[in-house]
Amino acid sequence: MTQIPGLLDTEAIRKDFPLLDRQVHEGKKIVYLDNAATSQKPRQVLDALNAYYERHNANVHRGVHVLAEEATELYEGARDKVAAFINAPSRDEVIFTKNASESLNLVANMLGWADEPYRVDHDTEIVITEMEHHSNIVPWQLLSQRTGAKLKWFGLTDDGRLDLSNVDEVITDRTKVVSFTLVSNLLGTINPVETIIRRAQEVGALVVIDASQAAPHMVLDVQALQADFVAFTGHKMCGPTGIGVLWGRQELLEDLPPFLGGGEMIETVSMHSSTYAPAPHKFEAGTPPIAQAVGLGAAVDYLTAIGMEKIAAHEHAITEYAVKRLLEVPDLRFIGPSTTEDRGATISFTLGDIHPHDVGQVLDEQGIAVRVGHHCARPVCLRYGIPATTRASFYLYSTPAEVDALVEGLEYVRNFFG
Ligand code: ALA
Repeated sequence: MTQIPGLLDTEAIRKDFPLLDRQVHEGKKIVYLDNAATSQKPRQVLDALNAYYERHNANVHRGVHVLAEEATELYEGARDKVAAFINAPSRDEVIFTKNASESLNLVANMLGWADEPYRVDHDTEIVITEMEHHSNIVPWQLLSQRTGAKLKWFGLTDDGRLDLSNVDEVITDRTKVVSFTLVSNLLGTINPVETIIRRAQEVGALVVIDASQAAPHMVLDVQALQADFVAFTGHKMCGPTGIGVLWGRQELLEDLPPFLGGGEMIETVSMHSSTYAPAPHKFEAGTPPIAQAVGLGAAVDYLTAIGMEKIAAHEHAITEYAVKRLLEVPDLRFIGPSTTEDRGATISFTLGDIHPHDVGQVLDEQGIAVRVGHHCARPVCLRYGIPATTRASFYLYSTPAEVDALVEGLEYVRNFFG
């Protein structure tokens, strides 16, 4: 077996993930390399979900009965866990949403309905980047269309990094908000947050960070990042689907208007008007994703017990090995950095002129699960003149043997297509 320093004890970790034992296509052991799309779930998270439904299920913040109190305690306890996980100064800065898309849409709508000094209107500019997931493009396009604000973006270099050579022209005195991803879901690039934030702060623009591909993989410290909002999702970090997080600075959450109205987010309601509950409840209208939050809390416990630094080191080692091995595959073109510096555990590539969907299908026949397509980041594919990529993405349970299986699988694909 390949020995690489810095790896976690994957033999032990993999025992926690029942799905990783699955066989597909008549006895082929699954090689799950689609972690950027969603991670697998450890038994600890599955058990927490079951225990919640079997013993504590009730609606939160509403009842005086014992189950309602237990459910509320578990839900709010999950908020405490997430706040500690991201080093939030206050638990009240953690808003539970459905997913990262909802978190980003929530910020865009808060700003769209805000008064000065946050108001986005036809005299102002919104800045994003060409490497965003659609969930960090479309909400800003909608806001731009609604308000007349100009939408601008940073382009990409040929090796899959942000082109920040014109940072002063892209972020100007008119810029109200700069929203960008910490780690690209297609290229794997880790972005230089400090350079962008420094310039945004110079002009007084708010900074929104999409941390969907960062929170599962590295230490995420919202105070160190110095952003104003940070969005991420639970299902990519061992949690269930249906739960996302928006962290926002307390004074902003106090000042900004709610987006969704309904139960739970109010203080008082009359037929003429309403007043709102303080954050985070102001932004959590209706029955929230209670079980999902509890599951996310269990995922946070699980990742914390292993240690985010160790997880990051493991993924770095696996990625280094994968890059080295993939460079051996003839006709393979990296879409994104082919170096291991400032890159996450997601690797996109093309293989000669074989269509990525064909690559994905032949890999699948061998039990290897990758994602193919534009990965909800179509502008990146347009930038590099390709319709799609094949994407392999690793996590804390990924092994060198799985990288070897991918490389062998790609050899098979090449032979298959002659
Ligand atoms: N955002 C997820 C991905 O990149 C679904 O695959």
